[in-house]
Amino acid sequence: KILILDFGSQYTQLIARAVREANVYCEILPFNKPLPADPSVKGVILSGSPFSVNDDNAPEVAVRDLAGQTPVLGICYGAQLTAKVFGGSVERSSKREYGRATLHIGQQDPILGGLSATSQVWMSHGDSIQRLPDGFHVLATTDSIPVAAFKADGTTQPLYGLQFHPEVYHSIEGKKILKNFLVDICGCSQNWTPAHFVTDTVAALKEKIGDRQVVMALSGGVDSTVAATLIHRAIGPNLHGIFVDNGVLRKDEFQSVLDTYATIGLNVTGIDAKQRFYDALAGKSDPEQKRKVIGGLFIDIFQEEAHRIENVSMLGQGTIYPDVIESVSVHGPSVTIKSHHNVGGLPDTMHLELVEPLRYLFKDEVRRVGRELGIPDNLIDRHPFPGPGLAIRILGEITEEKVQLLQAADDIYVKALKKHNLYATVWQAGAILLPVKSVGVMGDERTYEFTVALRAVTSVDGMTADWAHLPYEFLGYVSNEIINSVRGINRVVYDISSKPPATIEWE
Ligand code: XMP
Repeated sequence: KILILDFGSQYTQLIARAVREANVYCEILPFNKPLPADPSVKGVILSGSPFSVNDDNAPEVAVRDLAGQTPVLGICYGAQLTAKVFGGSVERSSKREYGRATLHIGQQDPILGGLSATSQVWMSHGDSIQRLPDGFHVLATTDSIPVAAFKADGTTQPLYGLQFHPEVYHSIEGKKILKNFLVDICGCSQNWTPAHFVTDTVAALKEKIGDRQVVMALSGGVDSTVAATLIHRAIGPNLHGIFVDNGVLRKDEFQSVLDTYATIGLNVTGIDAKQRFYDALAGKSDPEQKRKVIGGLFIDIFQEEAHRIENVSMLGQGTIYPDVIESVSVHGPSVTIKSHHNVGGLPDTMHLELVEPLRYLFKDEVRRVGRELGIPDNLIDRHPFPGPGLAIRILGEITEEKVQLLQAADDIYVKALKKHNLYATVWQAGAILLPVKSVGVMGDERTYEFTVALRAVTSVDGMTADWAHLPYEFLGYVSNEIINSVRGINRVVYDISSKPPATIEWE
């Protein structure tokens, strides 16, 4: 495997994904964590950073020692740190360089094998390497900087630096450079594939779980379904899935998700707890209070059901890699750990040992593994859906009638997106029921009914998002369908706010 030492760059996860795309396994470690003495580490990549190597508190690692053990590739800050540690100089350049640049290859080297003599790369740096250490040589330049790629001579293991970012999409041949480093220089085999992952993971789960019983909350989402399917492959019916109808799922979702689980062969109990949720939500209109009520009641119900299973001692979860990567804070080299429980935030009081087969996978890898496992596409390609469901899309107090109104409108919207081949073009879409009534006219009659807002966004990770520019004709069609067939709604509007400053959900 490859280790990526993180100095807090916004691109570190992209490096990891690019390495994984080359079918090579890698892990991200904060730069200030002790390196594991692990003979399977075949190479190290040093990430970029918001710091300058000349800052007083600039993060550092012992590059000399690293380069004595395995091949090392420094990217941006990682390259500058390497140059500085070996006696070169890095200065704030008069011209900062952000965005496109043209790379000119000056000297052939295995890391540049198969590249064009010139190609577009992506830059993002304020400092530049002014002078390379003795015994280092330049491999490539750009029009504005003399050192865009370098190699050290005479180190025990190959040591390279790149000023540009090979991991980003706009570095046209960047993936080729990374592959050259991984395969030709580090000697990694490209066997990190969904098929291998499934075989290895199922074997490891068998070994870890043995004949113990595992309980798991399922949500109908991609992560929990893929995790459960892997565990099921390993232990069969000793995995006990629990899927709770909290009354704020999408229309017909409870049954259709249970049907899908049945086709996969999962042992899942569906719990109809709609009424308990409606009772608990009655009179609550504050968004955070609604979230708390739903989260709390979910835990109660899950525990009741888990206690019915004899000898259960393990808890399956669909935690994925972005939830557990230890990230380096840009406000100083302190390490913060983001911890997130996939479903509902189950408490530690159950004293169950965790089973998290997706803990090292990125979302796109989870999808590929899901396809490998034969999970139907309609489940794999589902948009994200929040745990509190339609409850945070019904502004204010929730009643069963309002849930049914919104389910009907949302169902028309989502089906239309699929029918018009727009579903896959947006990251997330849904309808929101506003606590607003307005006047309309239908036939000769005056109406006074609710308004529904349609939301659709494009995004990569949900952290930032833009409103999706859906065609007017499509929006007109959906508006007509909703108003004509959902009694109680006489007006439809489209949300054209980006995140930030708005959020994706309205509550
Ligand atoms: P916002 O509204 O914060 O949403 O822009 C970002 C993403 O998170 C989802 N979301 C939630 N998911 N529990 C969840 O499991 C929640 O309470 C929650 N609130 C928002 C939202 O659907 C979007 O994908």
